[in-house]
Amino acid sequence: MNVNELVFRAQKAKENAYSPYSGFKVGAALLDSSGKIHTGCNVENVSFGATNCAERTAIFKAVSDGIHDFEAIAIASDSKDLVFPCGICRQVMAEFGIQRIIVSQDDGTFAEYSLEDLLPYAFKEFD
Ligand code: THU
Repeated sequence: MNVNELVFRAQKAKENAYSPYSGFKVGAALLDSSGKIHTGCNVENVSFGATNCAERTAIFKAVSDGIHDFEAIAIASDSKDLVFPCGICRQVMAEFGIQRIIVSQDDGTFAEYSLEDLLPYAFKEFD
C-alpha cells in the first residue's frame, strides 16, 4: 500500500466537503482489499446531529457498492495538527475491520494507528 497516495486522495476528497456550519473540511480515502480507493468528505446539516463525517461517507459509499473488505483509511483536513476520527467513526471502522488508520495534517505529515490503538475493547457482538 502506498500511504502517501492514500493521504493525497484524502486531501483531494476534502475539497468536496460540505461544511458551512463548522467551516472544517475533512476528506477520507478508504483502500479496499482489491486495491481500489473509495473517497468521502464530511457532509453537514443545519440539524447538526444529521452531519456525516468524511470517514463514514467513504465507508458507506463503498459498502453501498457491495464492498465489505478493507485494508486502510486515511483522513485529511486543513488542521496543522493530526486529526483523529470521532468515536462514531471508530465504531463503524470496527464493524468493517479497518485495521490501519492513517491520520494526517495539512502539510501531508501523517501517522498510522491500528484499530486496536484507537478503539480498544470495542463492542463487537451481542446475543
Ligand atoms: N469531522 C469529520 O468529518 N471527521 C473527523 O474525523 C472529525 C470531524 C467533521 C464533522 C463536522 O462536519 C466537522 O468535522 C466538525 O466537527
